[in-house]
Amino acid sequence: QQPIKLALMPGDGIGVEVVAAAERVLDTLRQRYDLPLSWDTLPWPSTAWHREHGEMMPADALERLGDYQALLLGALGDPGPTSDPKRYRLSDGVSLAPLLTFRKGLDLWACERPARLLPGAPQYLADERAKDIDMLVIRENSEGEYVNQGGRLRAGTPDETATQLEVFTRKATERLIRHAFNRARERLTLREQDGELREYLCDRSGLKGAQVCLITKRNAQPHWGEMYTEVFEQVAREYPDIGVHHELVDAACMKFVQCPWQFDVVVASNLHGDILTDLAAVLAGGLGVAPSCNINPDDKSRPALFEPTHGSAPDIAGQGIANPSAMLLTTAMMLDWLGLADAAQSLRSAVAEDLQAQHRQSQEQNSGARTTDEITQSILGHLS
Ligand code: NAD
Ligand code: IPM
Ligand code: MN
Repeated sequence: QQPIKLALMPGDGIGVEVVAAAERVLDTLRQRYDLPLSWDTLPWPSTAWHREHGEMMPADALERLGDYQALLLGALGDPGPTSDPKRYRLSDGVSLAPLLTFRKGLDLWACERPARLLPGAPQYLADERAKDIDMLVIRENSEGEYVNQGGRLRAGTPDETATQLEVFTRKATERLIRHAFNRARERLTLREQDGELREYLCDRSGLKGAQVCLITKRNAQPHWGEMYTEVFEQVAREYPDIGVHHELVDAACMKFVQCPWQFDVVVASNLHGDILTDLAAVLAGGLGVAPSCNINPDDKSRPALFEPTHGSAPDIAGQGIANPSAMLLTTAMMLDWLGLADAAQSLRSAVAEDLQAQHRQSQEQNSGARTTDEITQSILGHLS
């Protein structure tokens, strides 16, 4: 059997620390399950590579990544001091591009960010129904607000005008929304097997068990908002078993906090999805436990990109205190995508058991925060 080739890309800041944890776990899983995995660790894209070579990654980076079946990325963003705004802006400017270049260049048009409150994870909402939070935010990953077209006219003058174009195509909208309904149906099937049918916010009467909620700002941005709504209604007709719902993005933020357990699959534009998934992360235990992946659901022949929702966290980088759980749950998503379901499940369970064990211990002993190394060791210890 040909080994599956992975690229580990630590990137910047805590990315380096959490990818090191993922490598230890992958190494253990490889031995335990005899997994056909091999990997290279790439020093790019990163600010370190930029300092040496004057660019974030080699010119043929995308081509070289085509050799791998999956990419595991830590985070990008300068870990340096943020007190120098010029330096921060400069490094941010160069560090944003590679991530978006990968997503676009590898045609990874869907970003999936599950938010499930695992028992023992920090619970920021007091309401006890928060334990039922189990949503999947699917974010458009190829266009929308992120096309990066526009510019600054009369820059620096009192008459300066900055424009930032947003582009939404029907093709990208339709494939995204159809993917959201397919995921909702998978979740419905699992729940029917478990006999656990809950009610979600629903604009269609009498349906239980699964929902797709569309997010727009169609009252203020009617052009793409109306196209999204039209495509959503069209696709929804093919899925009469799935509840449908629409929220404007501002109200969605409010309801994410007020009743997040009433959301199931949420489908949103690139920028709305970005913002909603940091919020969803906190509802489900924080950025330290929020996984994410960038995939092309129609084409498994290209490498998919797995990276936690969090960034390089300059405020804690280099201290050895980043939570590696988000990266490890992301690694489990990668293993699932590669068809290594047993190893994925084992890793997910180990992260869940660690959270519960830690929760019990901190209640008993009022113990303080753990280091990256302590959490990684504990998760390694819980691997079956
Ligand atoms: P961030 O996600 O890096 O950090 C936000 C807050 O969450 C910080 O207080 C940080 O300490 C905390 N945090 C994040 N991950 C954590 C973890 N695993 N354990 C413990 N605490 C954690 O967001 P930011 O500060 O807005 O961005 C920093 C840099 O990261 C920026 O340059 C940004 O562009 C970049 N960024 C990159 C990615 C990516 O590469 N995927 C994602 C988001 C942000
Ligand atoms: C994310 C990040 C990126 C995004 C940034 C770094 C460009 O915030 O992956 O959520 O906005 O997509
Ligand atoms: Mn983000």
